[in-house]
Amino acid sequence: MTNWTPDLASRSGPRYLAIADALAADVAAGNFHSGDRLPTHRDLAWRMGVTVGTVSRAYAEAERRGLIGGEVGRGTYIRAAPADAGNLLAHDRDESENLIDLTFNFPPPAAEGGVLGETLVEIAGDENELQSLLAYQPCAGRRAHRAAGAKWIALSGLEVDPERVVVTGGAQHGMLTALAALTRPGDRVATEALSYPGIKLAARLLGLRLDGLAMDDDGIIPEAFDALCRSGEIKALYCVPTLQNPTTITMPAERRAAIAGIARRHGVAIVEDDLMRLLIPDAPPPITSYAPELSYYITSLSKTVAPGLRIGFVAGPPEAVDRLAAAVRTACWMAAPLTIEVGARWITDGRAERILAARRREAAARRTRTLAILGHYDVKCGEGSLHLWLSVPDPWHASALVAEARARGVAITPADAFAIKRQDATHAVRVCFGAAVDMAALERAVNILAELLESEPPESLGAVV
Ligand SMILES: Cc1ncc(COP(=O)(O)O)c(C=O)c1O
Repeated sequence: MTNWTPDLASRSGPRYLAIADALAADVAAGNFHSGDRLPTHRDLAWRMGVTVGTVSRAYAEAERRGLIGGEVGRGTYIRAAPADAGNLLAHDRDESENLIDLTFNFPPPAAEGGVLGETLVEIAGDENELQSLLAYQPCAGRRAHRAAGAKWIALSGLEVDPERVVVTGGAQHGMLTALAALTRPGDRVATEALSYPGIKLAARLLGLRLDGLAMDDDGIIPEAFDALCRSGEIKALYCVPTLQNPTTITMPAERRAAIAGIARRHGVAIVEDDLMRLLIPDAPPPITSYAPELSYYITSLSKTVAPGLRIGFVAGPPEAVDRLAAAVRTACWMAAPLTIEVGARWITDGRAERILAARRREAAARRTRTLAILGHYDVKCGEGSLHLWLSVPDPWHASALVAEARARGVAITPADAFAIKRQDATHAVRVCFGAAVDMAALERAVNILAELLESEPPESLGAVV
């Protein structure tokens, strides 16, 4: 057991929150190992001169944030570092492993390597440009880069003044930037019951409480959102209305208008993550278009052009731009100007749209091939999607399918990774078809999944005593 005693001298506010915050800071600083046991409630209370009830509330808060766990006979212990979402987002592929990894939501390959080479040569020929790209830039991004962002956003049907656009290092950073500008630790943020795992990481980092909202085939159910807003103060809604991750649902226009109307009535900010949008030609208008005064619209080039460039844009209400820029400055001062310059050139001269068209063609071919093999199961796979959401047929459990697939060299992601509340982790898996190196690898992997689903799951209960 550790004899951890937090120093609360610099922390204000309720003692129990200060203890939970101190624990979070020590976990983030790497001062604990997974499994380390914490002092008992009584022991810590005695050493800190607080009541046992204060320590119990602090531990309950830390448990709610996923930092610690507790079991009878084992006491209170540090959980493995972000086990639920962090590891599932990790992408250190072991090249020596003979694995077809369909866990990562990649756009399928397109021939943009040559285009990048050409662009770097263009930039290299301009000495002034080279010098200026080596310098610090305005935190919100260069004027030309923000204008490129506004042009990219306009493809989604939103006209925004470049002054409202802040450049970020991708949509994940955009989401963190918007939430950091909008919220304070302890605030509640609503999201889809099954959501992109990056929101869980962002919420954990910012100390936000997430509320998962019930969904139907059109996305968030408006009544569920309304009821949540009535139940207490909700600071923001984070949602992915187009080709939602993981369900691939695209919310129809009427539903978008209803969600925006509810947010307006309750004064709830909307963080609309729309990075998949350009994968389909005619998505309904962004939710932001129904409530621009309280919306933060996020997009990036990751799913449509190239994730490695790390280019994202956030367009917020005019009065929020300084706070967004401050959030970027706090995290990284500015998004890296060299890659932003590459992306901005591509957006401005149309190369980005040509790459997007190639990506879309390849994604459509892969989707068709995957559906030909798995389409007779209960699947969601909206047109334009880069992945398929498969409800695992009885008697399979999602965890058993993931384990068996892995044993046969195919990695897929179970619903747990996306569930905001544990009870929403249905027996479903996400299969990313963009991630396979080529169509042949994809077919091999998907055929393995089909063979498994057609067979009986392994009998594991025999081993339980
Ligand atoms: C819904 C959603 N938002 C954000 C991201 C992160 O995107 P980026 O690579 O632009 O940071 C992803 C990546 O899968 C995503 O699915």
